[in-house]
Amino acid sequence: MLSLRTTPSTAQLTGIKLLLFALCLIPALLLGQGLLNDTLGANPIEAITRSSGEWTLRFLLITLLVSPLRKYTGMHWLLRLRRMLGLYAFAYGVAHLLCYVWLDQFFDWAEIARDIWKRPFITVGVVALALMLPLALTSTNAAIRRLGGRRWQALHRSIYTIALLGCVHYWWLVKKDVSGPLLYTALTLILLGLRAWWREQERRRQVQGAYLKPPPLSGKVIRIFSR
Ligand code: HEM
Repeated sequence: MLSLRTTPSTAQLTGIKLLLFALCLIPALLLGQGLLNDTLGANPIEAITRSSGEWTLRFLLITLLVSPLRKYTGMHWLLRLRRMLGLYAFAYGVAHLLCYVWLDQFFDWAEIARDIWKRPFITVGVVALALMLPLALTSTNAAIRRLGGRRWQALHRSIYTIALLGCVHYWWLVKKDVSGPLLYTALTLILLGLRAWWREQERRRQVQGAYLKPPPLSGKVIRIFSR
């Protein structure tokens, strides 16, 4: 039987990607269906705006989950799915913005500008989405080659800031029930903490390695004394 740790063939990976693509579309399709069947409650616009916002945050966290899953399960091929998940986070973010600009504000740009200025949760949301744009634009193989691995990685590390901003945005808009923002903030902090812990472990390994390595002169010294 094919183990999950085995790298799938190109054909299998294409199948997995197609399946994932379809799965990620489900929330949008359900929202569309709810809108058509009028089952989104008394305020469908608010329901769509909120749901698309929540899915943006969920996809960001799912994207951040890929590395720990890969590390602890040995399923290294999961990395090949990360780009699609990140792009879905961006797509839901853009849909969320469209809901606000179109359905909520009817393209009233003066009102939108006032909102961005006056309501801090909107300001934070706009900053978070603006930070997602360079990540989406540099998600191609060509962009990775052009930027170089190190610079690309440094740029894409802003996904942590984006997830945290998404949580702040959520905290700022809830009135009574804080269970939603609390859950997402806890998950974000766990994923962030895990990265910090890995880095610390790596740093210690490097220090230990340097300590155990013989100093560069020792070979010569031994030769001098054994002449
Ligand atoms: C242009 C940027 C954005 C604007 C204008 C915006 C605006 C809004 C608005 C108007 C709401 C509904 C507030 C209410 O019903 O009281 C909302 C909810 C929300 N937004 Fe955003 N947002 C933006 C970006 C983002 C981003 C980037 C994320 C995620 C990283 C996000 C996550 C959320 C979440 C989680 C909710 C609450 C969902 C819920 O109540 O279940 N938003 N946003």
